[in-house]
Amino acid sequence: MALNLDAVGKTIGPVRRKYSWKDAVLYALGVGAGFSDLDYCYEKDLKVIPSFGITTLYDFMPQLLSNSNVNLAGILHGEQEMFFHRPIPPEGEFITEGRIANYYDKGKKKGALVIGKSETFDLNGQKLFTSIGTVFSRLDGGFGGEDAPKKEITIPDRDPDFVVEAQPLEDQPLIFRLSGDVFQLHVDQEFAKMAGFEKPIMHGLCTHGFACRALIEKLVPGEPEKVRRLACRFTKPLYPGINIKTLIWKTDDGQALWRVVNSENEEVVIDNGIFEYGEIPKDEIRFDDRVAIVTGAGAGLGRVYALELAKRGAKVVVNDLGGARDGSGKGSKGPADKVVDEIKALGGEAVANYNSVATPEGGEGVVKTALDAFGTVDIVINNAGILRDKSFLKMEPQNWQAVLDVHLNGAYYVTRPAMAVMKEKGYGRILMTTSAAGLYGNFGQTNYTAAKMGLVGLMNTLELEGEKYNIKVNTIAPVAASRLTEDILPPELLDNLKPELVAPMAIYLVSEQCPVSGNIYNAGLGCFNRAAIVTGPGAVVGDSSEIPNPEQVVAHWKRIADLKGAKTYQSAAEIIGDVLGALSKPAMAAAESVTGFTSVADVFDAMLGAFVAGAAAGVDVIFQYIISGDGGGDWFCVVKDGSCQVEAGTHAKPTCTLKISAGDFLDLMNGKLPAMQAYTSGKLKIEGDIVKSQLIEKLFKL
Ligand code: NAI
Repeated sequence: MALNLDAVGKTIGPVRRKYSWKDAVLYALGVGAGFSDLDYCYEKDLKVIPSFGITTLYDFMPQLLSNSNVNLAGILHGEQEMFFHRPIPPEGEFITEGRIANYYDKGKKKGALVIGKSETFDLNGQKLFTSIGTVFSRLDGGFGGEDAPKKEITIPDRDPDFVVEAQPLEDQPLIFRLSGDVFQLHVDQEFAKMAGFEKPIMHGLCTHGFACRALIEKLVPGEPEKVRRLACRFTKPLYPGINIKTLIWKTDDGQALWRVVNSENEEVVIDNGIFEYGEIPKDEIRFDDRVAIVTGAGAGLGRVYALELAKRGAKVVVNDLGGARDGSGKGSKGPADKVVDEIKALGGEAVANYNSVATPEGGEGVVKTALDAFGTVDIVINNAGILRDKSFLKMEPQNWQAVLDVHLNGAYYVTRPAMAVMKEKGYGRILMTTSAAGLYGNFGQTNYTAAKMGLVGLMNTLELEGEKYNIKVNTIAPVAASRLTEDILPPELLDNLKPELVAPMAIYLVSEQCPVSGNIYNAGLGCFNRAAIVTGPGAVVGDSSEIPNPEQVVAHWKRIADLKGAKTYQSAAEIIGDVLGALSKPAMAAAESVTGFTSVADVFDAMLGAFVAGAAAGVDVIFQYIISGDGGGDWFCVVKDGSCQVEAGTHAKPTCTLKISAGDFLDLMNGKLPAMQAYTSGKLKIEGDIVKSQLIEKLFKL
């Protein structure tokens, strides 16, 4: 028998557990509640002890144990950590999904750790809590894996701020086991003796529940819904009936450390306790079960992203080559290691990776680090960057190439293997980093700006390819003081340009809550806005039956170039659909459907381009327009021997004169008022040669 190493990362569940208020009360009684804390025991206004959530483990753990193929003869519950996202309702259903997150090898005779992570949701899909449980397997060590990273919790060297005494009953395990853990060790005399104990022992999770009650009593009395995190290590067995003390040290706002001791011999039975509490912000963005890769995270923006992700519960791969600003040099482990240390000091989890993202192997290696350390990857922030500025004519191929390799190719090399994992699991968040220089241009940065806009193109298509796998891809254009900008931005501005003022946007865009994909956002100085490639409505000037000429483009230029009414498109197919839609209408209606003329002057601007020379052979005519009202004026068109001239003003000898108000004229030109109706209703008056006025429709295709 050996651990099934292939089981790491495989999904377990969803496992479901329906519960009623009686289950919540039974658990409360199992962990020592009674008349002294009736809120937990009386269905009227019942409050649920958050540690009741561990009852989901009784469904999840058996699957974890069988999938991992752990040797059941030597297992103990080593550690338990829970993050609470919402108060647990007094009745409902727990829906739990998770996986074996990792194995750690302590050595042949020392055993192995099997880490199981799960998330539990209610029936509405709201996440209730995240659990990270460690099974210590005495008999499975020596399989050649890595040892667990050291997690030292330093209890302050002073008396605890609170000591809560409790007296678990001799019969306590008999009540507690009814919540789900029916292992014989806690009930069967002979089994306990065989396992080397005098008699059945307390469930570690029962003592854990006593401690949770004690922590709530002292730190958030009457408000169990404020418990946010409860973590600990089980260190010694305890017999039922022995008094215990929960020792509590307040270490920070909303944080305490704790342990439980056997009151008879002062032995620590639960250690390394962490308790976090406070208002659970309603829509807090958390990454508790997520694994994030941040490239170039050894400094600048990447460092701040990595720290913020870790503070919010993500396990982070801190990638950084540690090279020079222009990407030269051998690189150094220092920057990535330093950020990993910072994260660990905050109680977070992180691992360093020193690869250059600028090669396919480098990119693969970054993703491998995530898989080896944490079993999966949920988030990639493509952030690594270098600069090699030169004006275009001085830009040698190697400086062009180096910048494209880090920014554009680097994003490709890292994102591709990561996206394969995301596709498999049906979840992913990818962030590209562009730049205002790329979006809008910057002197001396052709290599950089080309790479940065290339990333926008990469995003545009990944958005489409990732959509059906719940992979969202967005792009940030940051502005912040860093090594890259220290000599580009004015020094007085640099002090205000903290990367922390950019990070909230990056964090939101890689969160579960992010609703958008395929978008670009500027972020800097705490200002955020969306940048987009927009397309104006333009004009339909011809079609396959009537090929337009460049002069017609000139004639319609105002409308072609106008961004009024511009919109964004999510794909090339969408814009082609729009164009085909416009073309499928009759030419006049199509032009109208795209914009319609909005001013009388526009019509006369377009007239020359709309002139059909072929229809004017032998024609000699002068049309005078007198347009009254706001926006009106006088224009005339001279058509002679196939040529046309349009001018403002009045002609001395017009062939015919058309008089109409500006509003009616626009309606006429926009197809809303048929010419005949305009004439018969008196809106259009024609003086002079009425018959020749009918040539207008043939001579101009407006
Ligand atoms: P920074 O120089 O402080 O950080 C970039 C990090 O990337 C460095 O630690 C560097 O060692 C690392 N790196 C460089 N090449 C690498 C490679 N091949 N593999 C792995 N790591 C590598 O710069 P900053 O300002 O934090 O830049 C982060 C990103 O934001 C870059 O993509 C940059 O182009 C972009 N950006 C920054 C702006 C700003 O105002 N700081 C403006 C617009 C974009």
